[in-house]
Amino acid sequence: MKLDDTDKAMLDGAEGPAVAAAMDLLVRYGQALDAEELCDVRNVAGTMTQPSPIKARLVREGGWHKAYAVLNLDSDGDFTIPDMKVPTCQLQQSFGPDAEGIAPYPRELITLQSDAEAFYGRKGVSILATCTPYQVGNIPVRGEHLAWMESSAVVYANSVLGARTNCEGTASTGAASLTGRIPCWGNHHAANRLGTHHIDVRTAVGGPLDWGMLGYFAGGLVQEERPVVTGALAQPDLLDLKHFGAAAASSGGVEIYHLPGITPEAPTLEAAFGGRPVPEAAVYGARERAAVYADLNSQGDSTDVDFVLLGCPHASLDQVRDTARLLDGRRLASGTQLWLMVPRALRTTADRNGWTQIIERAGGRVLTDSCPAMSRSAPPGTKVFATDSAKQAHYLPAILGIEAWFGTLAECVDAAVTGRWKGEPR
Ligand code: F3S
Repeated sequence: MKLDDTDKAMLDGAEGPAVAAAMDLLVRYGQALDAEELCDVRNVAGTMTQPSPIKARLVREGGWHKAYAVLNLDSDGDFTIPDMKVPTCQLQQSFGPDAEGIAPYPRELITLQSDAEAFYGRKGVSILATCTPYQVGNIPVRGEHLAWMESSAVVYANSVLGARTNCEGTASTGAASLTGRIPCWGNHHAANRLGTHHIDVRTAVGGPLDWGMLGYFAGGLVQEERPVVTGALAQPDLLDLKHFGAAAASSGGVEIYHLPGITPEAPTLEAAFGGRPVPEAAVYGARERAAVYADLNSQGDSTDVDFVLLGCPHASLDQVRDTARLLDGRRLASGTQLWLMVPRALRTTADRNGWTQIIERAGGRVLTDSCPAMSRSAPPGTKVFATDSAKQAHYLPAILGIEAWFGTLAECVDAAVTGRWKGEPR
C-alpha cells in the first residue's frame, strides 16, 4: 500500500508511539483490504465509550490509556494517548445514569461508561451518544470522506448526504481519530457507489412504516449490494429515510442506495448506474409488501404486549412530538412499559417543548444514549414487545428471546395504552 511522507513519518514515530501504533494498524488493515492508499478524514464516529467487562479489566490493570491502546489500536504498547487529531464523535453507547432504576442494567457498567466519557471527552471526543449523529449537528457534506461506524448512520451518510464511508470498526475509528487517515477502498471510490440492482415500486410508499418495509425488502433482495429504487414513492423526509436505510442495513448489509431524483448521486435512473445498462427491475408490489409485513410480524404470537419500544434509529423531534400527542391525556396499561429512545441533545428540546412531560405523565419513559438492542436490556419480565422499527423487530427477538409486533407509531402507542396488540396489515 502506498504511503505518503506524512504517513511514513507517523509510522516511524514522528508524532509519538500512539500515533505510530495507529498508523501500523491502518497499514495492516489497508493491506488486508487491498487498499492502494489511505485517504484524509476529518470526521470520525466511533463507539469508544461503550463499556464491557474486558474494558473494565484493562482500565483496572493499566488505566484508560491502556484500554485505548488495546481496544482502539489493537496494540499492547504502553503509551500515552494524545488528543484526537481530527473531529471525532461518540455514537450510541450503553444506558447511562438517566436509565438507572428503569432499565435493568448493571450499575458498574454505567459508572465505567461515565468514566469513559470523562476520559474520551478530555481527549476531544464529542459525546453525542446517538446512532443518529446527523440529527444532532454532525452533518457531513457531499463527497466528504468519513470513518463512521453504525450501519444505520453509514447508510444515511452515504446515500442521503453523499458523504463517503465504509462501515468501520472500533479499532479503525480509534486509529483514524489519531491520524486523520483511513484506507481508501470500497465506498470511498465513486465506481463502487453505483447501483447494482433496480427495484420498481408498484404499491404506494409514504411514511416511516412504508419506507421501513421497503428498506427491509431492498436489503433482503440485494444483501450487501446497492439498490436503486424508483416508482410509487412519495417524497421522503429525514424520518422516512432513517427508517428505510436502517431496515435495508438489517435485512441485508446495504451501505449505500439511490433514489433517482431524490438522493444526491442519482439525478436520474441512468446516472445511478453510471451509464451502464439498467438491470431488469425486481418488483415491489402489494404481494411483496404483504410478505415483508408478515415476516416482520412472524415473531409475534401472544397479543398481550408488555413493552413498547420507539425510537430506532434514535427518534427525531417529529417522532417525539407525535408520540406526545398520541399519549396526551392517556395512561399506559398497568404492566406495560413504553420507552422512547432519543439523542440526548434532542431530549433537551423535547423537554423544553413539554413533550417529555406529556409522555412521562402517561407513564412512558424518554431515554437517551442507547437502546434495548445495544444494552441488551428491556423491562424485567418482558415477553412480548411492539415497535415501529423494522430494525428492532428484526434484531430484538434474537437478542432478548422475546416476541415482536411491528406496526405504526399509533398502533404501538395504542398497544402501550391497552396492553393489547391490535395492529392490522395495511
Ligand atoms: Fe440505534 Fe439501537 Fe436502533 S443503536 S439504530 S436505536 S438498534
